[in-house]
Amino acid sequence: MAPVTNGRELFNEIVPAGELPTPGKTTVYDTSETIDFDTVPLNGGFLVKTLALSMDPLLLPSMRAPQKGQPMPPFPIGKPIMGVGIGVVLRSEHEGVEVGSHAYGALSHQEYSIVPTLKNPMQPVEIIKKNPKLSWTAQLGPTGLAGETAFCGWKEHSKAKKGETVFVSSGAGGVGSIVVQLAKKDGLKVIASAGTDAKVKFLKEIGADVAFNYKTTDTREVLAKEGPLDIYWDNVGGETFNAAIEATKMNARLIVSAAKSQANFNGTNQPIKVAGLFNARSLTMVGFNMFFLRYKHMAAFRGEYVPQVANGEFKYAEDIRHGLANAGEALLHALSGENVGKVSVIVAEE
Ligand SMILES: NC(=O)c1ccc[n+]([C@@H]2O[C@H](COP(=O)([O-])OP(=O)(O)OC[C@H]3O[C@@H](n4cnc5c(N)ncnc54)[C@H](OP(=O)(O)O)[C@@H]3O)[C@@H](O)[C@H]2O)c1
Repeated sequence: MAPVTNGRELFNEIVPAGELPTPGKTTVYDTSETIDFDTVPLNGGFLVKTLALSMDPLLLPSMRAPQKGQPMPPFPIGKPIMGVGIGVVLRSEHEGVEVGSHAYGALSHQEYSIVPTLKNPMQPVEIIKKNPKLSWTAQLGPTGLAGETAFCGWKEHSKAKKGETVFVSSGAGGVGSIVVQLAKKDGLKVIASAGTDAKVKFLKEIGADVAFNYKTTDTREVLAKEGPLDIYWDNVGGETFNAAIEATKMNARLIVSAAKSQANFNGTNQPIKVAGLFNARSLTMVGFNMFFLRYKHMAAFRGEYVPQVANGEFKYAEDIRHGLANAGEALLHALSGENVGKVSVIVAEE
């Protein structure tokens, strides 16, 4: 077979603190490479055609200047972005990986890529089955990275009890919208915030008892009226974190999902101002890295939660873009908060 173009989204420039990525500058779409499916050396790995990629805010910290505590290593300049995706196997030399099977996990932002092994913990990839009731983008969102983060973090750390009150920031996001619904299933009162009225509407549709636009309504006023809080699920950090700590009850739990918390979005550090409340109220703050936690909860995630999503017991919204060339725009769309639902890019049909 003749070589075909292998489109790639290359990391081109570090994103300065306080700024969001600029499509075409931070990343560039490159078509200079070709690939021959029949002859490209696999060296024991397998060749994947990318079908869909998840546009995760988690990608942003790796676009910043190298610094301590980045959840994942910085992206090397001139190389393809590495994110979470799903692809179909076109050729394989890897034991247990069949042609036509589907790979889920850390995939390069390129149309075709070679996965060297299923055993590299720094590039976790696994072979998954298509759920006939879920699209590939759903398998990247509510039952992919976002769902895993919400489910594993909630099961491990919430210690939720019926009648308690939880506040979820960025409640309409991929992670937040699942946390809202897990908390409702556990019988909690759910307060959730988002940055647009369309997202607030979505929050009400998925069952949040109190949903508000943090850009037009004061978070502290809402929490003073609707709290106090037994649990705060943090997706954003910053001043919202401080407002949540102030609104806690005795023995409240603060669950830090946000990658690098406040520095995730703006690349600057805003200190936690009310640290004194931690001992006064016996607060517990816990962070987690889903990549290490997921193995503990996978049986319940796949056996109980995924069928519930497939059966419609959990609602989710999707914001889908098409074509790898539009991945930079799609990520910016997710980060700027204009999206309603999980942003994914469909790279190719099967
Ligand atoms: N712990 C882990 O292992 C793990 C794994 C995956 C993801 N994460 C983290 O979990 C969080 C949620 O993930 P997600 O994928 O569902 O993302 P997400 O919540 O959809 O994040 C993007 C949203 O954050 C909000 N936002 C943007 N800038 C903000 C700012 N300056 N202040 C407050 N909010 C701002 C925007 O929504 P609104 O403005 O409308 O609220 C935007 O749409 C992220 O921080 C992500 O990095 C952690």
